[in-house]
Amino acid sequence: MFTVTPVRQRTHRIVWNDRAEIEFQGAMAARPKNVLVTGPHGWGKTEFCKEVARRAQVTLGREFKLMSVNLSPYTRFEDLIGTNYPVNTANGVAIQWVKGALQLAVEGGHMFLAEEITKSNPETQARLHSVLDEIGRRLTITERGGEEVPVHPDFWFFANSNPAGRGYAVQRLDPALQSRFYWTIEIDQPFCDERKLVEDIFGGDENATVHVMNWLEDLRSNAETIIPTRDVSMFSKALGRGVSPESAIEHQLKPQYDGDKYARIAAVTKAHFGS
Ligand SMILES: Nc1ncnc2c1ncn2[C@@H]1O[C@H](COP(=O)(O)OP(=O)(O)OP(=O)(O)O)[C@@H](O)[C@H]1O
Ligand SMILES: [Mg+2]
Repeated sequence: MFTVTPVRQRTHRIVWNDRAEIEFQGAMAARPKNVLVTGPHGWGKTEFCKEVARRAQVTLGREFKLMSVNLSPYTRFEDLIGTNYPVNTANGVAIQWVKGALQLAVEGGHMFLAEEITKSNPETQARLHSVLDEIGRRLTITERGGEEVPVHPDFWFFANSNPAGRGYAVQRLDPALQSRFYWTIEIDQPFCDERKLVEDIFGGDENATVHVMNWLEDLRSNAETIIPTRDVSMFSKALGRGVSPESAIEHQLKPQYDGDKYARIAAVTKAHFGS
């Protein structure tokens, strides 16, 4: 019989496992060279990058922001660097350049995270080349007469992508862009200490934590019922709110997975939590 005391106040803490620590060391050794993080949905790509930025800030001893943009086929390069906006002034309407996240990160020496880079269009990818060069990095703003913005030495470019093929609506990266990534990290297994994650969610309830971890171990022992960290987190949070395990998987996992996979997950869930 599964029980857990409902947790009212919860702080979301990032907990890394050894693999994440090792990959962090590799990324830090590569700094400020460009890092590509690949992997299927929900295994912690974004959370890893956010935590790298937080830790890099400690190393740098100054404010080090993470500026991220979700790319799509419709994202124009202008959306990243900035745009000419009409603004009201005392002398009427004037056109003013408003800096975008990439220009701010380049100038201020911050981290820029391009989410879903493989979904971006060829023009946007091509215009990223010069800012990702190994030597003589520069950001050229053709919209401002070819203005060249100097790149701060601490500017650090990260990109995330799902694997090309395997059912993801993404394209392979243009080879010229791919070759500009000095360091690639693949996240297709937990980068999280999931036991600690579940324990945090259950407010330290040891029995409930062991129960969920056993269920997870069973699911992960079969290639056809593997679920990522996001599902583990969402399932545990639902249980922590008093939702039944059957209802949690029905509302969270059923819409995501095909019928066979869901049926297998449901059977494992029933075996561990009863009907
Ligand atoms: N190290 C961690 N510590 C705590 N929770 C984590 C950690 N890594 C991942 N998670 C949990 O897993 C969820 C999914 O992680 P994240 O959003 O980083 O995945 P993703 O790989 O970027 O997925 P997508 O491809 O869908 O963007 C997070 O919302 C969080 O709940
Ligand atoms: Mg993400």
